[in-house]
Amino acid sequence: MSTELDIVGLGMCTLDVLLRLKDMPSWQHGTRIDEFRIDGGGPVGTAMVASARLGAKVGFIGTAGNDESAEIKLRSMIDAGIDLSRLVRRPYPDDQVIIVHVHSETGERVFSGVGNIQRQPLRIDELDKDYITSAKYLHLDGFHYESALQSAKWMREAGKKVVLDGHKTSGSVGQHIRNLLEYVDVLISGSGFAKGLTGISDIREAGKRILDMGPNIFVQTEGEDGSWTITADKAFHTPAFKVDVIDTTGAGDVFHGAYIVGLLKGWNLQKVAIFSTAVSAIECTKLGGRVGIPTYDEVMDFLNERGIRNFD
Ligand SMILES: Nc1ncnc2c1ncn2[C@@H]1O[C@H](COP(=O)(O)OP(=O)(O)O)[C@@H](O)[C@H]1O
Ligand SMILES: [Mg+2]
Repeated sequence: MSTELDIVGLGMCTLDVLLRLKDMPSWQHGTRIDEFRIDGGGPVGTAMVASARLGAKVGFIGTAGNDESAEIKLRSMIDAGIDLSRLVRRPYPDDQVIIVHVHSETGERVFSGVGNIQRQPLRIDELDKDYITSAKYLHLDGFHYESALQSAKWMREAGKKVVLDGHKTSGSVGQHIRNLLEYVDVLISGSGFAKGLTGISDIREAGKRILDMGPNIFVQTEGEDGSWTITADKAFHTPAFKVDVIDTTGAGDVFHGAYIVGLLKGWNLQKVAIFSTAVSAIECTKLGGRVGIPTYDEVMDFLNERGIRNFD
């Protein structure tokens, strides 16, 4: 198989066990679950399923265990046509497993992860440099940190692009993410990241400061409040689409995956943001981070129905 890829993702791929419920259980009381699903997840894992389902040629590098959990979390990647030839299997049960509690009324979620998640991250000697640098874009989430940093450096040397998921935060941004920034071209974060990184509350001002750290595109997503895009010469807001939200798990992840597809198309950044916002909105209408990811044609239909025609 040709290793000419559009995107290589290097990061976390989880098995998500999703419980949609109104009330959390306590040690005194159990609870009733409105809906249950098992789906693959993880920031880069889900982003790559989105990119692939939207038509990009994608490879994913990460780790998986040797049990049924690993098979399930990889299934939707295989179904989406993602190349897993450089994935590394570990000889023990998969520990990248997350219980996701999704609030029935808001679709917002909280996670319970396995304690020893990432007990054996990818090592640099397990990476295939030529494979990674064959791609136009490398997408990272900060997991497998040593390998992520090395791969980002290789991409920079090769003149290729690096995208980083900065995650959302209510506190300060960790040192690992800060260290990666100098090798990042496109930084897309969740809510609170700009302030957590710079200490500055104003998104435009914080965004400009972030551009001095390496990235030349900075996007911060804000859930149902849409997203902000900041570059050297512009700063604009993109509103979210109103949809019947079931579960916001994976909203940010698929936004990333769609965003890279938009960049590959060579669109202007307004268009890239609208496309990614549409993909995320559609994804939020189903329980699970991956099951609701649309195809490219479904996104065009969604935009058409909302009066956004001749997008392509
Ligand atoms: N409740 C929602 N309704 C519509 N769109 C949403 C909703 N939540 C998220 N999105 C879309 O997904 C994008 C990413 O969501 P966000 O909540 O910021 O990421 P995450 O919580 O996964 O870090 C948003 O910019 C928005 O376009
Ligand atoms: Mg959210």
